Amino acid sequence: MNKPIFIDNISLSFSNKIYLSNFSAAIYPNDRIALIGQNGSGKSSLLKIIKGEISPLQGEVKGGESITFGYVPQLIKEYADLSGGEKFNKSLSAALSLHPDILLLDEPTNHLDQRNKKSLMNMIKNFKGAEIIVSHDEELLRNCINIIWHIDNGGIKIFRGEYNDYINDIENRRHSVEEELRILKKDKKEVHKSLMKEQKRAKHSKERGEKLVSQKRWLPALGDLKKSYASKSAGKKNTGIAERRNEINDRLSNIGFREIIKPKFSLKAGDCGNKTIVSISSGFAGYTDEMILENINLSLQSGERLSIIGDNGKGKTTLFKAILNYPQIKKSGLWDIPKAQDIGYLDQNYSDLDDSKTPFETISEIIDTTNYDEIRNFLNDFLFRKNEEVNKPIGFLSGGERARISLAKIAAKTPKLLLIDEITNNIDLQTKKHCQDVLSKYPGAMMIISHDFTFLENIGINNKFELF
Ligand SMILES: Nc1ncnc2c1ncn2[C@@H]1O[C@H](COP(=O)(O)OP(=O)(O)OP(=O)(O)O)[C@@H](O)[C@H]1O
Ligand SMILES: [Mg+2]
Repeated sequence: MNKPIFIDNISLSFSNKIYLSNFSAAIYPNDRIALIGQNGSGKSSLLKIIKGEISPLQGEVKGGESITFGYVPQLIKEYADLSGGEKFNKSLSAALSLHPDILLLDEPTNHLDQRNKKSLMNMIKNFKGAEIIVSHDEELLRNCINIIWHIDNGGIKIFRGEYNDYINDIENRRHSVEEELRILKKDKKEVHKSLMKEQKRAKHSKERGEKLVSQKRWLPALGDLKKSYASKSAGKKNTGIAERRNEINDRLSNIGFREIIKPKFSLKAGDCGNKTIVSISSGFAGYTDEMILENINLSLQSGERLSIIGDNGKGKTTLFKAILNYPQIKKSGLWDIPKAQDIGYLDQNYSDLDDSKTPFETISEIIDTTNYDEIRNFLNDFLFRKNEEVNKPIGFLSGGERARISLAKIAAKTPKLLLIDEITNNIDLQTKKHCQDVLSKYPGAMMIISHDFTFLENIGINNKFELF
């Protein structure tokens, strides 16, 4: 790639909603661009526009014709029988083997263990060409990036510099705007107080004036007229303050501090008394006669929480599938486990979702109410709020939206056991914080797979079961 690619005035819209409008930018050969923004903001779609897979509503990408793209999608559909991390590595190798001029990676760290993530970050730093990387992973963002494209509210902010500088820049602006807001609130209070005082006095003198006028003794006194001017001028001051407040709110929203709508969902635990929920002894499991899991011994009591640790390909997800009694899994040993319908399972690939159904249909089928408003309120907590959001086939949903509807499916029931496989993949910061909160309060039995050790620590899981 010896010439830049120009993105010229692009807009993107689906189902009448505008995701991006009038975005222009250039991509130069050594740019390492991070594409960030909330779930559903249009990041994956923008990558697809740049590589020519989908067309924008308007605008065009110039200079992309003679260029080789290496692309690794967010949800990899090929290589069905590889683990998450293995799938990614395979897909990345395929992309690199094309000797691409530009590499487009969509949430590349999703399934990676520490070692694989380190080697990915090294590759990103040493790649000779341009890169655009969609990610919510702060470690990657801090270490590998020199330009930020931040999609926010239909616009993209471009920042040339490192991620830390970008965050500091936002923080500084937030402080100064917040300070301005604080002063403004104080001013507003004072003006309000003096306005009230003035109104009270005006009312009082008006009453007095009316009384005297009705007794035909006095016309309105000059002093009272003056006071009414004073009241008008306090009103003017108040209007000025309202204008300033609106202006500050605009500025806040321009730098990304609009009030963000956060998820509100919770998870209920099924009541199963004080007993053993899972008991596996001398457990073996695998897809063929060659066992992936050997001599597993573990047990889980009600209310107990356990993290399953192990590098990519060690069989963490296989353990979950064995507990779920998946027919393709062969197993031996003693597996004393709940019935599959009593288990709430978050599949790391969300493959139990039916792409042809909408979120509304998906939840209606499993929740124990037929009341339309209750179902809509339930979906609302998972941020499926508008008609077009609850009625859009799941096949069109973004990665984070798929994660949310998968969680909604679990929450619509009251399982005895939760099996959570890589919940932090694909979800944005707000949703991650909320999941952290929900899981740390969850009272039932839970097994959780995650490469994100900070997350595990934050939800207070200290028992671990390691697969070697
Ligand atoms: N073909 C389509 N028809 C209708 N809506 C679509 C279509 N493709 C994507 N969308 C919607 O467009 C929005 C942006 O999707 P996109 O996948 O680009 O988001 P994203 O920023 O990558 O999100 P995430 O962080 O969750 O991966 C989402 O709300 C998604 O549901
Ligand atoms: Mg995406």
